[in-house]
Amino acid sequence: MGRLMRSFWIPAMTAAEVPAADEPPLRLTLLGERLVVFRDTEGRVGVLEENCPHRGASLFFGRNEEGGIRCVYHGWKFDVAGNCLQMPTEPSTSRMCQKVKARAYPAQIAGPVLWVYMGDAQPAPALPEFGFVGLPENQVYASRWHQECNYAQAMEGELDSAHVGFLHQMVNKTDADPQALTGKYFQEDTAPSWKIMHGEAGFMACNGRRVDGDKRYWRLNQFLLPFFTMIPPRPGDAELVRMWVPMTDERCWVICVTWRANGPLKEAELAAWRNGENSHRKTVPGTTIPAERLDNDYLIDREEQKHVTFTGIKGIRAQDAMVTESAGPIADRTREHLGSSDMAVVAMRRALMEGATQCAATAQPHPAAAKSWLYAVHAVQAVLPGDQDPETADDFLAPARATPPAASPSA
Ligand code: FES
Ligand SMILES: [Fe+2]
Repeated sequence: MGRLMRSFWIPAMTAAEVPAADEPPLRLTLLGERLVVFRDTEGRVGVLEENCPHRGASLFFGRNEEGGIRCVYHGWKFDVAGNCLQMPTEPSTSRMCQKVKARAYPAQIAGPVLWVYMGDAQPAPALPEFGFVGLPENQVYASRWHQECNYAQAMEGELDSAHVGFLHQMVNKTDADPQALTGKYFQEDTAPSWKIMHGEAGFMACNGRRVDGDKRYWRLNQFLLPFFTMIPPRPGDAELVRMWVPMTDERCWVICVTWRANGPLKEAELAAWRNGENSHRKTVPGTTIPAERLDNDYLIDREEQKHVTFTGIKGIRAQDAMVTESAGPIADRTREHLGSSDMAVVAMRRALMEGATQCAATAQPHPAAAKSWLYAVHAVQAVLPGDQDPETADDFLAPARATPPAASPSA
């Protein structure tokens, strides 16, 4: 699985969290590796193994000074590429400084996200071409929080659309908008039918609910290797991608990016997101710790549970986290009973296992990592005639499909 993960650029934190030039470093754990993140005097971002290559003191306590980070134990100093710049405890005639390197990973900021490449492809592949890449700052928003469970388990909560009509519903009430997650389309048919369409970088999971008599409300969720999910926005809402990044086997980062391709984000939606509503999660200010979390029972309000929301927990994202984290950090899958509604969860597990097997067999990065255009897709939804196969609905599918770059003209 490591080789599969390392095939891809890993989203590490929001760009807003990256320290400014010469500011103290931050700690970051990705794929079980403890790292530090800093920005040197010229503004270049460095991502280094946390432990100093001399005798292992943490570089988090180091000094970020004049073009590199200096370990405070014996003063060894490293630049963003891990090169040793100074080794002041060795004799001036020593050449050791040229031989020792700190483990460093390439890093770049694109859109509102810091990306780190932990693989061994030379050169590193291009970044995935999500719809937010290259948009002006006022059209994109990102936030990061962490969850106390395995990344795949957390991601299952996003792909499993069947839960929406239960977990997120209101008590004795539906939203005026039928397509809202608390709207009537999710109540009218609680056992959606499924259609999985496989692609080179993952799959599209269509789930359809019989609504308004003889129609079917189809939602198309995207799963993109190794841990990206997109669910369709309501008409007029911002698009989103969520990134479920392994921190350790038992914890993960969630980075959510929301954007509008055609204009600035609205003040009201930004205010709501900053407050942890809808697509984003409320955190303890200045941290990635969710406000409603496992160790405070997500601030469940049993009165609200009786009269207002099905869970008594505030916020769609907190409700999702409650169900995935409460299964334990790594749920015992030998004890589960999967039904037909779990089709997307099964497809995701298969895609990950097949990807990992393929990478192990070839000892190569996953081929999707070299095709950044596979990520320029959208999650969509539509109400279609009840008997229409979504696979034949071209207008519905067109924005969800990736388009290969035009072949270069032959010489
Ligand atoms: S442990 Fe870092 S310089 Fe010695
Ligand atoms: Fe949910």
